[in-house]
Amino acid sequence: MRSYIEECDFFKGIDPEEIAGKYGTPTYVYNEEIIRKRMREVANVITKYPYRANYSMKANSNLTILKIALEEGLNADAMSEGEMRLLIKAGFPSDRIFFVPNNVDRSELQFAIDNGIMTSLDSLDQLDLFGRLNPGGKCSVRINPGVGAGHHEKVVTAGKKTKFGVAEEDVDKIFEIAEKYDLKIAEINQHVGSQYLDPEPFLAAVENFLRIAEKFDSLEYIDFGGGYGIPYHKLDDEARFDMASFTERFTALLDVYAAKYKDRLPLFKSEPGRYCVAEGGVILGRVHACKQNAGKKYAGTDIGMNVLARPTLYDSYHDIEILHKGKAVSRDVLEEISVSGNICESGDLLCKERPLAHIETGDLVCVLDAGAYGYSMSSSYNTRPRAAEVLITKEGKDVLIRRRETYDDLFALFPEINS
Ligand code: LLP
Repeated sequence: MRSYIEECDFFKGIDPEEIAGKYGTPTYVYNEEIIRKRMREVANVITKYPYRANYSMKANSNLTILKIALEEGLNADAMSEGEMRLLIKAGFPSDRIFFVPNNVDRSELQFAIDNGIMTSLDSLDQLDLFGRLNPGGKCSVRINPGVGAGHHEKVVTAGKKTKFGVAEEDVDKIFEIAEKYDLKIAEINQHVGSQYLDPEPFLAAVENFLRIAEKFDSLEYIDFGGGYGIPYHKLDDEARFDMASFTERFTALLDVYAAKYKDRLPLFKSEPGRYCVAEGGVILGRVHACKQNAGKKYAGTDIGMNVLARPTLYDSYHDIEILHKGKAVSRDVLEEISVSGNICESGDLLCKERPLAHIETGDLVCVLDAGAYGYSMSSSYNTRPRAAEVLITKEGKDVLIRRRETYDDLFALFPEINS
């Protein structure tokens, strides 16, 4: 049976025990080569027409990873002033940042306007506010294309059951507000949802979106959003998202639009987050206790829901490899185990009653595909400092790219401690 970390030499010859010893556990470990490879794939999804991929940094906002995205020629999208500020720190020029907020106050919009950052407005109310702040300006409007997709209802961001975007039937109202403030709607954007391996709903949304785009005059950009999925069940040989056939079918849809608008083609854009970084990241954690409860085996680790929220939040599946003395334990013999964290909640489980390789106290667990929505969604719940982040560089060196949070960091916000 497969070991992903051995097959791709994830740690580039470095003993995971050495990493755990040097940086402690839990630690997020990233492989630079894998991240660059995935970023290159998304950068080249469309080659026939002007096209740019925006790295959606909510998936992983580590500064070093943002710099890698910049080097790989990706643009980036930001959801908040904090994300815009971090992209600016990473060296992204304002014309390579796209601000895609929802329900923000005037100060966040003003920050984008002051920094010349193209902004998407998610509702007629927010478009009106933008018009008041920046009459005569340019902006994008997020349209709900009416088709959604995704791995869990909590990540489907289009269709009838979501807070996102302006409905197609309100397009005339967009034009009224634009006229009132002399705004140029230079872009429309959509995002149907996250983690689809079947491209059908996305392609249907693209086709529909291009039809909606025809209602707008001289668009400079059409942004189709992100969502490309990754194989979270890779140890069971789950198939990858078929980029080659996706490119072919996506391009064919653009051909139809381009034939009509050949003299004034917009820049086509997408916004992948997960695909760029998920597989290039794992979490190393330590097994601190094994026990049997009511005949079921539990392995208790330091990877709680504070470190990786996805399994608790969405019942997400992450493959888990067990490392004994730094070596992947053979999966030829499996035993049913629930792997838990050290948080005071029964939902604090990385997996429930799953056949895994033999686990002993003292082993390391390696949670795969944790590079996206891992650290960026982690918390200090139960007053546990956030994990460290380490990059295995393409030269095979381990480099600390975010130090572990300290208790001082956690307590620094209380006024009585600081006064
Ligand atoms: N663009 C917009 C406007 C988005 O809302 C998102 C994700 C993306 C792009 C990037 O989507 P991606 O390519 O990464 O699927 N925390 C959840 C995923 C939430 C995604 C929210 N929006 C998870 O862990 O599965």
